[in-house]
Amino acid sequence: MAGDLLITNIGELSTPTGTSARRGAEMSELRVVEDAAVLIKDGIIVYAGPGADVPWEEADGVPPMSADGRAVVPGFVDSHTHFVFAGYRDDEFMWRAEGLPYMEIHNRGGGIRRSMEATRAASLEQLVEIGERRLWTMLSMGVTTVEGKSGYGLDLQHELKQLEAMSVLSERTPAAIVPTYLGAHAVPPEFEGRTADYLDYMIEEVLPSVRAQGTARFCDVFCEKGVFDIEESRRYLEAAAEMGLGLKLHADEIEAMGGAGLAARLGAVSADHLLKTSKEDMAAMARAGVVATCLPLTSFALRENHADARLMIDSGCAVALASDLNPGSCYSQSIPLIFALGLLYMRLNLAEVLTALTLNGAAALGLAESLGSIESGKEGDLVILEARSARFLAYNTGMNVVSTVVKGGEIAYRA
Ligand code: NIG
Ligand code: FE
Repeated sequence: MAGDLLITNIGELSTPTGTSARRGAEMSELRVVEDAAVLIKDGIIVYAGPGADVPWEEADGVPPMSADGRAVVPGFVDSHTHFVFAGYRDDEFMWRAEGLPYMEIHNRGGGIRRSMEATRAASLEQLVEIGERRLWTMLSMGVTTVEGKSGYGLDLQHELKQLEAMSVLSERTPAAIVPTYLGAHAVPPEFEGRTADYLDYMIEEVLPSVRAQGTARFCDVFCEKGVFDIEESRRYLEAAAEMGLGLKLHADEIEAMGGAGLAARLGAVSADHLLKTSKEDMAAMARAGVVATCLPLTSFALRENHADARLMIDSGCAVALASDLNPGSCYSQSIPLIFALGLLYMRLNLAEVLTALTLNGAAALGLAESLGSIESGKEGDLVILEARSARFLAYNTGMNVVSTVVKGGEIAYRA
């Protein structure tokens, strides 16, 4: 989308600043402007600042819109989701509510493999329809950029189908979609007990086709005890890097595997989950500039302690927060709940949560130069709230306070 728009009478404009991830104490440095205005031309922000200083010659002929004193924040970047899947696992949710551990269900052949069966059985058009509904739900909560993973096909044909669905959806909805190949999500039944053969298959057959298709920008692995170990993850990710994909890892979610340390050694763009990550690996992520992506909706839904994002920031990391929307561990894409959990249970401040969901989310997708903040040169993605301050994102606990969503200077959604 590439429109022209002049938004005036913004009661409070709150945004992180910069073209790279904010780390450590920088995450608390928000730019807050009262009585602000934003001018977007051809989809790009050309002015963001006091309403009194709008460059009126440049604004000539641009359609104006008053924010009526309401608050504005950048469009949210949900940098970790599995939003293209078919079928549901509501029964597993009930078993977990009764106390059955997530990995126990996985090891009994439930979990990811069940979603694989449903996703393989779905047509491309069905996946597109399902994905489109979920993207509109996200847009309604202010999400303008969404990362989406494959990983429920687990063979060449169906992994490419999931990636293809995302490519169709990026044309069909206003949201920007960043696809990730996650073939190493689980070992599919046809390779049962033959993890090394499945890795060879992905490296020799699937990854080259993923590259040829040209949709995926990243490659991800579920590095976890009983799924893919450190050595297997390394071999697969190095092959993906050679094919030009950026690297991401599901790391240290259930067991402390050293996945975050591997992310640092491989120069991955992000390591995600991080519930059990050691202090040493947090320091390694900070040194290597790996974005530490925490997924509070998943820890909440699994009734686990949240990742120690407070310690990660205090160790100098750039922290991002994302939904992890998926049919198993976390069937939620609630941005309002992320704000509530981030502030109340992860002990982050509002500026940190806002930065984690915008600029640092963009950095976790390699897009911080063009997305994630409201400043000149960035894409015109922003959210007008139904409130006078960004504080309402957390204060109005669990409620959606989004009024209008602008993507590339065009109105993408109105409540
Ligand atoms: O990020 N942990 C691995 N993958 C997903 C869950 C996938 C599923 O259960 O379907 C996650 O939590
Ligand atoms: Fe995930």
